Amino acid sequence: TVLYLNRSLSVIEAKNCTLRAKGSLKFPKNFSFGAATSAYQIEGGWNADGKGPSIWDEYTHNDPDRITDRSNGDVAIDSYHRFDLDLKILKELKLDHYRFSIAWTRIFPNGDVSSKNQKGIDYYNDIIDKLLANNIEPMVTMYHWDLPVDIQKLGGFTNALIINYFTAYAEELFKLFGDRVKLWITFNEPMQICKPGYSTAESPPNIKSPGIGDYLCFTNILKAHARTYHLYKSKYVKEQRGRIGITMDTFFFISKSNDKNDVDRGMQFSFGIIAHAIFSKAGGFPKVLVDDIGKNSLAEGRSVSRLPHLDAYWKAYIRGSFDFLGLNYYTSRYVERPSKPLGENPSMLRDYDIEETSDPNWLQGKSNWLYCVPTGFEGLLKWIREEYDNVEVKITENGWSDEGDLDDDDRVSYYKSHLQAVLNAIHDGSNITSYSAWSLFDNFEWNRGYTEKFGLYAVDMKSPKRERTAKKSAIYYRKIIEARTLVDEF
Ligand code: NOJ
Repeated sequence: TVLYLNRSLSVIEAKNCTLRAKGSLKFPKNFSFGAATSAYQIEGGWNADGKGPSIWDEYTHNDPDRITDRSNGDVAIDSYHRFDLDLKILKELKLDHYRFSIAWTRIFPNGDVSSKNQKGIDYYNDIIDKLLANNIEPMVTMYHWDLPVDIQKLGGFTNALIINYFTAYAEELFKLFGDRVKLWITFNEPMQICKPGYSTAESPPNIKSPGIGDYLCFTNILKAHARTYHLYKSKYVKEQRGRIGITMDTFFFISKSNDKNDVDRGMQFSFGIIAHAIFSKAGGFPKVLVDDIGKNSLAEGRSVSRLPHLDAYWKAYIRGSFDFLGLNYYTSRYVERPSKPLGENPSMLRDYDIEETSDPNWLQGKSNWLYCVPTGFEGLLKWIREEYDNVEVKITENGWSDEGDLDDDDRVSYYKSHLQAVLNAIHDGSNITSYSAWSLFDNFEWNRGYTEKFGLYAVDMKSPKRERTAKKSAIYYRKIIEARTLVDEF
């Protein structure tokens, strides 16, 4: 239900959340506009129709105090029962694609192939068929943080067995949905899986193994991703003709002292730790990580580095395992080398050896980490273009949090300035083919519960029907999609 239909609106630009155009305001002909969600954040139906428990079910049930409003994803915005509502909205927004994730625990309730669950499969078949019937391309994330509890019991991403389990799950997805799904993303944000999950213990599985468990996690994700990629290429692509990538998140970095080395160090530790192995010519972990973590490990009295060694076989196998690069960008930081060591010893933070700060002049969102820095987005797209040989980039997330007002002018400014950054990067030669707004709806923002709203649509969480209402930003986004141009009036 679109509001404001009879009002004519214009962008009221927020101070310090703007970006100047370098060239045309028109998007390229085949540019794809979409919006993104993830299973745990919207579906609800946490144990419906045979679904098994994930680490987020377990954590929110056992540890409610760790969620700001003591909420969970048990019902969420109930997309499991209300996809038809969602579909209306997807159509009303005129989206070219919809990025959503599949809950592993609906397909294989305990994570293993032997536990296959037809009702969970039916749910996604229905979504995919309805999207296609309405000319909306499905973009499917295989893993958006909701690991089956039984796989966690084996150590989750620190046990190399995850490579087999994940690949078996991915293969089932190819078999079930690959006739219709042509865009696959293996993992969403390895950094946010491995750091809060295995380093700082801020998110499930809440394992505190800084500088050790986190690096193991990255290594196993890289291998599981590559295995899945090669499986698709050797067995499925000929018939299914889809494309496959991985989505990584990073801040961009601005050097306080104009030192490009600091920017590069920030980027390699935050982004290169996954991207370098897949997208660079050399492959493997970035040299600065291998060198510095190796050095620190020796100084701690170890004979082997805490950063696992990628041998020649794995290096070659992982390098080039992509059809596109999925990028989630939200915000940026200033960087400088610290005057004294950071974090505990050992830890990723100690290895990183970079101090990140923000600028009091940057417009801040509801999330304490989120500032509007569109120049950072343009800078990041340039860095990626130069570092990875102008790889095809799909922006798989970008968005703004607030208190939930329907007149969300700051979100409108954020989208305007960040889409401007995309246009500027394209103008400068970047190969960017797609953009997904985060998020289609206000939803369960992990440890922040429902207190930080990222949606183009508000959701009435007090009503059992979970009615959705368009915000001003939804109307604006629809206008951009219609016009294929970054407009001001809508
Ligand atoms: C990235 C994550 O993929 C998504 O799940 C989350 O809600 C947004 N960032 C906002 O924090």
